[in-house]
This record gives sequence, structure tokens and C-alpha cells, in this order.
Amino acid sequence: MIRNKWYAILDAKEVPKKGIIGVRRLGEKLAFWRTADNQIACIFDKCCHRGASISAGKIINGHAQCPFHGFEYDIDGKVTLIPANGRKKEVAERYKVNTYAAKEKYGFIWIYWGEEKVNLPEIPFFEDLKTNFHYSQIIDHWPMHYTRCIENQMDVVHIPFVHHNTIGKGGKTVVYGPKVKWEGNQLTWYVKNLVDDGSIEAKGPNEMGEEDELFSLQIIMPNIWHNIIAEKVRVFAAFAPIDDENTMIYLRFYQSFMPIWGIRHIVGFFGKISSRIILNQDKRVVVTQLPKYTQMKMDEKLIPGDRPIAEFRKRRDELMKEDKQ
Ligand code: FES
Ligand SMILES: [Fe+2]
Repeated sequence: MIRNKWYAILDAKEVPKKGIIGVRRLGEKLAFWRTADNQIACIFDKCCHRGASISAGKIINGHAQCPFHGFEYDIDGKVTLIPANGRKKEVAERYKVNTYAAKEKYGFIWIYWGEEKVNLPEIPFFEDLKTNFHYSQIIDHWPMHYTRCIENQMDVVHIPFVHHNTIGKGGKTVVYGPKVKWEGNQLTWYVKNLVDDGSIEAKGPNEMGEEDELFSLQIIMPNIWHNIIAEKVRVFAAFAPIDDENTMIYLRFYQSFMPIWGIRHIVGFFGKISSRIILNQDKRVVVTQLPKYTQMKMDEKLIPGDRPIAEFRKRRDELMKEDKQ
């Protein structure tokens, strides 16, 4: 996993108004709660006293209380009270656990997966989706590394096979492009799929005209994806890494053509059903891929249509290397 990046890791509603939640993300056991002034606290979910899960406890005056012997933690992971020592007794510095900077934005909880807590970069999000859209959401667990899951959403070759009776109807197996464009850590790719009547072959990105740039999709490193289906209809996904073999997918159907309360919920409901069908078609195949994660140098023979996937692997590799410097 790439260090020093913002990751969307939970839906904002998963962190209760009152109470605490424990989840595994980025290979770590983490506890989340909301402080009295509605900041998001994210601390390591292992009590520094004798290792119990802090998230099995409760929130008292904005602090998390371990269920075992009542140690209380603040948002900085510091123990503020050791009940057995008495309220009067000051708590020594060494009683603390690690933390991550966490924020609520765009309906998600984000953590900055690194040591830094201040002067952090902006939380990345797709510009279009910042306003005017309503969304419905499905959450699904895939027993795969997040690289396999996000690469599946970048795969423009699989559509007529995996989705032959849904979005891939019509057997458009030939791929033009995809043409790719990086802006910072955001990758956009343009693509057109066609029926193979025997008279055409794949076009490279430089041979594509505007008419060949039928669909565009985007990712922002490391873990969010955006499918621009139409001006007012989008599909979005965040791939929250649980650990090296598991990912939680938050798939959102965004629309801005129906703002009316009630009706927009019906639209959202149908958006959800179709997203679920399509996602299950993907899942059936992706969970069979070996190995369960990808990297730049691996034993796979990619084809020109896999260009977005190759770009993702390359950038991921660069960011991992940057990290290590
Ligand atoms: S294990 Fe948490 S207070 Fe003892
Ligand atoms: Fe798919």
C-alpha cells in the first residue's frame, strides 16, 4: 500500500454519532469515533495496557474508554485517565497508542495513511462530483487486494465478456485506445468498443479521433474511481484496503437529473440494483485472479487495451518508490 496518501476507508455513516467502531483497514486494527466537536478520531485499536480492543468499549465525554480496565483515550491516542490510579494522578506520556489524521468529507471517512498529522494535502475527489449530485450506495467485501479490484474497474476489455447480458450487450469486443491522460495523480482514459465484423482492428491512442473517445473514466490515486456515463449520471467507487487479501468496495450511483425528494430515492434504488448486478458479475471473475495483488513487474502479458491498468501499475510503483526515499 502507498504511504502518505488520503484513503477513503469508510462511509461517513459507519462512524456512529455516539459510540465507537472498530474496523480493519490498510492491514491495521483501527477504532473510530466522533469527538464532542464532531472531529473524527482514528486510533490504533489495541489498548496500550493489556491489548484489549478499545472499540469494544464506549465513548465518555468525547474520549474512548477501554472496556477492560477503563483507560480513557483522547483523539491524539493519549491516555487521559487510568481509573485504578485515581483521577488526581497525572498520566505519564508513555501511555498512548498511534493515530492517523482522519476527516469526514464527500460522505466518506478518510485517513491520511502516514505519520504526518498537520499541513496535509487536500483530500482528493472528482471535481464534478463535489456539487449537485445525489447518490445511493452499495458496500461489498471482496476477498482480493485493492489493486485487483480497482484494475477491474479500469479494464475496458472485459465488458462484452463479463457483462455480456448487461452493460456489455452487443458483443463489442474490439477496443479503440484507450487514450490516457494524467493530471497530477488523476488518470483519465477515453475508449470506444466496437463489434468485430472482420474489417477493423484495434486503434492505438494516436489514431483515435474525437468520435472514438466515446466513454471516459477516471481514477485518483490511490483508491477512488469515476465512470462518466453521462453529464448527469455517474458511477463512483472507493476501494478501501482491508489488508493484502481483502477490500471493501463502496460503489455509488450518482445522478443529478432528479433532485426531488422521494423520486430521487426511487431512482437511487434502481441505480443500486443495477450496480449490484454488474458488480456481482465482476466479482465472480475477479476473485479467481492469481495472484491476489498486482505490481509493476509481474508475470502477466498485457495487451494494448490494458493501457489504463499498465498506467496504474506504473504510477503506483513510482509512488511506492517515492515513499521509500
Ligand atoms: S486492557 Fe485496556 S484498560 Fe486494561
Ligand atoms: Fe466490470
